[in-house]
Amino acid sequence: MLGKLLDFKQEGNRVSFRFEKGEGSLTPLKETVFRVFSGDSTIPSKAVEKTEHEAGKALCTEVCREEGGVRVSTRCMSALVGDDFSVDFYWADGSPLCREYRGERTLSKGLGEEERELMAGEGHFLAEEKKRHKIEVLKAIEGDECFYGLGDKTGFLNKRHYAYDMWNTDNPDPQVDSFRALYKSIPFFMARTDRGDYGIFFDTTYKSVFDMGKESRDYYYFAADEGNLDYYFIGGDTLPEILTEYTALTGRAPLPQLWTLGYHQSRWSYKTEEEVQYIGNMLRKLRVPCDSIHLDIDYMERYKVFTWDKERFPDPKRLLSHLGEEGFKIVTIIDPGVKVEEGYPLYEEGMKKGYFVTAPSGETYVNAVWPGDSVFPDFGNPQVRAWWARQQKLLTSAGVRGVWNDMNEPATFRGEIPGDIVFSDEGQKADHTRMHNAYGHLMAKATYEGLKEADGRRPFVITRACYAGTQKYSTAWTGDNHSIWAHLQMAVPQLCNLSLSGMPFVGTDIAGFGSDATPELLLRWVETGCFSPLFRNHCCLSAVRQEPWAFGKDVLDIYRSYVELRYTLIPYYYDLFREEEQTGRPILRPLVFHYEKDPETWETNDQFLIGDRLLAAPVLQQGVRRRVVYLPEGTWYDFWKGEAIEGKRAILQEAPLDTCPLYVKAGSILPRWPVQQYVGEKEIRELILDIYPGEGSCLHYRDDGESFGYREGAYAEYRFEVESSGRFTAELLHAGYTPYESLLLRCRGKEIRLSLSGEGKAEAKLW
Ligand code: GLC
Repeated sequence: MLGKLLDFKQEGNRVSFRFEKGEGSLTPLKETVFRVFSGDSTIPSKAVEKTEHEAGKALCTEVCREEGGVRVSTRCMSALVGDDFSVDFYWADGSPLCREYRGERTLSKGLGEEERELMAGEGHFLAEEKKRHKIEVLKAIEGDECFYGLGDKTGFLNKRHYAYDMWNTDNPDPQVDSFRALYKSIPFFMARTDRGDYGIFFDTTYKSVFDMGKESRDYYYFAADEGNLDYYFIGGDTLPEILTEYTALTGRAPLPQLWTLGYHQSRWSYKTEEEVQYIGNMLRKLRVPCDSIHLDIDYMERYKVFTWDKERFPDPKRLLSHLGEEGFKIVTIIDPGVKVEEGYPLYEEGMKKGYFVTAPSGETYVNAVWPGDSVFPDFGNPQVRAWWARQQKLLTSAGVRGVWNDMNEPATFRGEIPGDIVFSDEGQKADHTRMHNAYGHLMAKATYEGLKEADGRRPFVITRACYAGTQKYSTAWTGDNHSIWAHLQMAVPQLCNLSLSGMPFVGTDIAGFGSDATPELLLRWVETGCFSPLFRNHCCLSAVRQEPWAFGKDVLDIYRSYVELRYTLIPYYYDLFREEEQTGRPILRPLVFHYEKDPETWETNDQFLIGDRLLAAPVLQQGVRRRVVYLPEGTWYDFWKGEAIEGKRAILQEAPLDTCPLYVKAGSILPRWPVQQYVGEKEIRELILDIYPGEGSCLHYRDDGESFGYREGAYAEYRFEVESSGRFTAELLHAGYTPYESLLLRCRGKEIRLSLSGEGKAEAKLW
């Protein structure tokens, strides 16, 4: 595209290039992280706001011309820049990691007019003609590459041989493997190859295409028709290393409030004060632990955001305070569409201040969502975000503890918003084409900032639409799945790939949103979903009830046991979130994340790890009561029966309806709490540590569970270690928060209670 490479210039770490038809630059941000850029540098990145990378440090060890281009070397890697801004990445020893594909794209001709008509006759889907893009980067496939990430796409874990679009899309049809786009656009993937691993983040909010070897076996490509060529290349030995660098660029999910790790009960909709109270009463009466009830669109007055329906919710403050006494935190939905209605203050104020997006003529743009004709806040404008942030007070002042942002692709009922509708981009004039994929991200950012200001605690936001970096502001759910087995199966790779895309706090609608759940599906889904960081049962208006008690006592008892299991594991989840905030390692991890040297793990779609210590192998098919489980290398313990099993092999595991096969890695120390009906119900003075023979260590973290005080040191941190000899040691590393009074060690049926000495140390002999 850019033609012959003419010359280059080095200024600090940045090396700029002059081509026949344009310019570009390559900048190492770290020894293994490079930014490749050509285009308009005034377009602000939505994802990369401030990075941990040290721009100040001199990184280029050598920049020189050689045959084939200009080589930019760091201590660990080099990039060879050639004609047309091709970039090949090498390790320091000269071996290639990722090279440009130098052939032409194979654009097949597609169908003739007659054939297209014939197919259209029966209503068949006609794939778009293949075309060239203004920006196209083709990289060679040189071996057994597997590709992971790309956000919330459908299908399986490994994205090789599939193609996707990055264009936030609300399509209510049951999602299948051939869907090209869903609600989120996270243009980042990681490649596992026999030459080493790497990640590529194509930082564009314009519609982009990722063809991961579907068009050809020899190359994959990413492309866009507008915007910049702006991508980051991250090389590394392992997937965790790459994710650490990607999240250093785009940010990490901040430590959440503890209660958000509990169980959430939702439905579209709990429509009245009485119904919400009834749901709360049932949960407590039937002793299904629960921290949160979600209010869907019917709490509002005719779907007008930031209002309460006065008849159905006459006194929200009283209701929420009453529910609060019972341990429930209320989360309310907020959509971006603002109803067009004279006398509605939000609409009137927004109109007066010019806060809604407009047609090129300047007229406010109107489309339909739940309230009918609606207008759309221009979230790319910082003033609009500040205004939206202030609105959250209406909710927090009634006692709302979290906000669920929906329909923020943005979804519209009368066709998609045209590309030329005028949006802002941080003070610049932009259009829908540029801002579409960032819309949900910017709405979540406004919501996060508003909640932080109004409430002071760590904000709890859930969003449906995302861009890269949304993890800094919000958790996410995967949108409108269906109560079908295929969607339970999809949940595993989908949540794993979101996790590998920098979004760790994610979950699916448990038991499915559309269609009707069956008792068996509900159980198998809670057996899987109780491990997802966001643990919420939600379904649509027309679906059969799927609350835990909806299918009778036997189902309820099993359901409850998995919610209880989750509550006992909350301290482990919290430790994982602490680790995530520091390293970017997610909570849910596909097996390949820790065992990539073992090819058996590359395509595992029906098992996952929770941190590095627990492995879940849920049943994902109707009628199945035993399944094959692949255990990676090392010794594993059956969580339920305690028996040790040697790994690096597949086993046949019995899995009756009440059992989700679950395994613990030898040498694991699992921090646990007793069952509580909600987080904070009991004062926890003792930490339970389940110890599985072997060698291992872990950090354990505790704080007040809601404030930002931990950033000023208000936390306690412990280090626990177990040796193969059976010696256990504990050490309090940081004492900025009330320490536990005792530790209860449980190992092979034996219990030992320990208290830490004045120096914050303790030890015991376990076997
Ligand atoms: C969308 C959301 C769903 C919600 C519904 C009504 O379909 O994805 O979760 O219940 O809107 O607000």
